[in-house]
Amino acid sequence: MGIKFKMMILMFSVLFISACSDNNLQSSEEVSRSSSVETLNNEHVRHDEVVSLNDSTGEHELNIPPMLEPDYRDDNRVEYTVRAQTGETEIFDGTKTKTYGYNGSFLGPMLRLEEGQTVKIRTINELDEETTFHWHGLEVPGDADGGPHESLKPGAEELIEFDVTQEASTLWFHPHPEGKTAEQVYIGLAGLIYIEDDNLKSLGLPNVYGVNDIPLILQDRIFDESKQLFFNAAIMHDGTIGDTSLINGTLNPKLTVKREKVRLRLLNGSNARNYTLKLNTGDSFVQVATDGGLLNEPVTMEEITLTPSERAEIIVDFSQLDTEKEMALVNEDDSVLLPFDVSEQGGETSSIPEKMNDISISEEELSMPVKKQVELYGMMDQVTINGKKFDPERIDFTQEQGVTEVWEIYNKTDEMGGMIHPFHIHGAQFKILSRNELEPPKNEQGWKDSFSIHPGETVKIAIQFKHKGVYMFHCHILEHEDNGMMGQIRVE
Ligand code: C2O
Ligand code: CU
Ligand code: CU
Repeated sequence: MGIKFKMMILMFSVLFISACSDNNLQSSEEVSRSSSVETLNNEHVRHDEVVSLNDSTGEHELNIPPMLEPDYRDDNRVEYTVRAQTGETEIFDGTKTKTYGYNGSFLGPMLRLEEGQTVKIRTINELDEETTFHWHGLEVPGDADGGPHESLKPGAEELIEFDVTQEASTLWFHPHPEGKTAEQVYIGLAGLIYIEDDNLKSLGLPNVYGVNDIPLILQDRIFDESKQLFFNAAIMHDGTIGDTSLINGTLNPKLTVKREKVRLRLLNGSNARNYTLKLNTGDSFVQVATDGGLLNEPVTMEEITLTPSERAEIIVDFSQLDTEKEMALVNEDDSVLLPFDVSEQGGETSSIPEKMNDISISEEELSMPVKKQVELYGMMDQVTINGKKFDPERIDFTQEQGVTEVWEIYNKTDEMGGMIHPFHIHGAQFKILSRNELEPPKNEQGWKDSFSIHPGETVKIAIQFKHKGVYMFHCHILEHEDNGMMGQIRVE
């Protein structure tokens, strides 16, 4: 997309937002209808249209989320306190934006866990509204999962406890209150969880946090004239898409790296935007991990698509690239998300072993009958799963603890063609068996907890729950989730 066109969209969106925030009493539907801006307007955005992001000027060094200091830690146990808070953040120089954050004003810290550890987390709601603490991708008992049933009132706290029974991976946490998830994430509630294990430590992948092991939380936002995040003005019912890119909450970020292998832990933390990431030079990189763990082998790629809530770990080898050129991580339309400032300094020599993990799909799993069928359908606030909207009182499925089942998820097209839905299941990591009966791409042959599903596509997964309880499954376009594109499974 040409620069001019991008500028036009930007100008229009600024006008659009200011029109919206002038009248807070107007419902967002009315705002949409009365708006003359077609590009950011729900009813006119085609499902597959890309709203461009700004090019990062690189004027701010990328913020690295702090590692949360445990209240207690020994080899077998770790204890943390996580507070949901309101605050103000200087996203734009010299201006304060009202935000939410965990243990801080915006986004959250990184919680480090080890496989085999017993974990206690004291969760405290210091917001003026209800919230929950959901651990996305973590295999925990239903009552520790932080779904909509575990809502905490303002001022309330809760202690949760669980054992880490899963392998090294990059997970995240965010709120999940019924009907309010999109807004709370949008204003800033999202944090990271790293799980480590012996296998990971033995591999020698880049692992110096903030130096050659860098989390990138990708989010898009719409700021109004006064640089605030007014969700009610910005909301789009098919998922709020912004024109401003933030990475780890940093506007116009750049990342300074040495000439070494750098591991980027990518998280699509946006409400609705899909990213297709690549290097501006066209150079390839390797993907080493999916949502829930390492791949068996590194997969060489030139671009990677992440739909909301998906993660991937990739390694860019700056010691092998022609860093005379300006390098950057860019989006599919070439908007510059993260310029790299490559110093002449050499760094660590780390390796990417040919064999990293041992996850396989058995013949048995491939021949299992389908036990659960999930049909995703609709758009805007007319979204359903198997023809129904979320009802907290209704259990849609049951499954036995520790038993593998095959689920078949189908994205039914609508009159407008339909749209991609990112599908997520709580409380388990699962394997993608097939996409439209074909083997999934190599970089999806690892543990997953979310995946994209295209209109008309059928995806089969093999899933087992290690714990009991009630878990959500839903579309991770957060507005779709809030609009009821969510169901519940009871594991017994
Ligand atoms: Cu990222 Cu229901 O969760
Ligand atoms: Cu989740
Ligand atoms: Cu959806």
